[in-house]
Amino acid sequence: MVRVAVMGATGAVGREMLHTLEARGFKYSAIKMLASERSAGTTLVFNGGQHTVELLTEDSFKDVDIVLASAGASVSKKFAPFAVKAGAVVIDNTSAFRMDEGTPLVVPEVNAHAAKGHRGIIANPNCSTIQMVVALKPLHDAAKIRRIVVSTYQSTSGGGQAAMDEMREQTIAHLEGLTGDEAPKPKKFAHSIAFNVIPHIDVFLENGYTKEEMKMVQETHKIMEDPSIGVTATTVRVPVFRSHSESVNIETEKKLTPEAAREILSKAPGVVVVDDPSRNQYPLAIYAEGRDATYVGRIREDYSIKNGLNMWIVSDNLRKGAALNAVQIAELLVEKGWLKHD
Ligand code: A2P
Repeated sequence: MVRVAVMGATGAVGREMLHTLEARGFKYSAIKMLASERSAGTTLVFNGGQHTVELLTEDSFKDVDIVLASAGASVSKKFAPFAVKAGAVVIDNTSAFRMDEGTPLVVPEVNAHAAKGHRGIIANPNCSTIQMVVALKPLHDAAKIRRIVVSTYQSTSGGGQAAMDEMREQTIAHLEGLTGDEAPKPKKFAHSIAFNVIPHIDVFLENGYTKEEMKMVQETHKIMEDPSIGVTATTVRVPVFRSHSESVNIETEKKLTPEAAREILSKAPGVVVVDDPSRNQYPLAIYAEGRDATYVGRIREDYSIKNGLNMWIVSDNLRKGAALNAVQIAELLVEKGWLKHD
């Protein structure tokens, strides 16, 4: 049985990782909760027991086989090498290593085989990318996707616990009529997120896109193992606590009718088709919250091009977009015996 450490255990994703390990009955012989000095010494309940949160240090990884990391990219950059040196495998939920050659970027339903070649670090993709590729890979296999146009509607939990708290405070203040200096100032977002829609996630790059948007482009190429797919993204923050929604348009080489796409997706691992507009049935953020699946609906033909489809893809960003995907990678490594590395 494996020994697990959760780096950033007290954060939004870290807590969801613990919940996911518990819910899936992940077999472990020891578990460590790691965080900063801010929460070291506090306790977290896991599998019915109290666990003291330990301060993350370079020496935290002795006797650890798997590190589930979600404490921010700079923390991963600093500490992951120590974990690898100590013999552990780091499943990293940050952007620190995703595009490194030699670091597999894995969504088990899409490219589980890529995990085999790891050298101690496996990267968990960006939340928006994960749910999109889970839904699109089966369609790519059937009809070869040439181009993807995606607009996201991303929840505040993608920015961590503090971002969710900020939305709650601003919403309450807004409803209480607080304005000007009385209203809570934006900290995690560039503008107030309450009752707003912000087309800006992560930093702007010289090409006019945000880093989040370019992550979707580059990570999709890496995970789908096909850099020929044209991908363009607009990533948007919306005042939702959990679950990201995406409007996705694809152009395929072979014709794919909405019926055929529904049929393929209804058999795809990790995907649930919810697509009955006559009964107002389509994927919703509040429905996806706390669930494992990636929901796809509003599948319809794009009549503006020869082979085009539109769809609406929703998944819980803390679950499949982060914690669940990481735990699935851990399960894969254990099942296949792929934990060892040089
Ligand atoms: P802490 O509770 O000590 O602040 P979120 O994504 O919700 O903001 O959570 C971030 C997680 O990463 C928290 O568990 C936080 O712990 C942890 N973290 C942030 N910075 C560090 C650091 N320098 N060392 C260890 N853990 C950190």
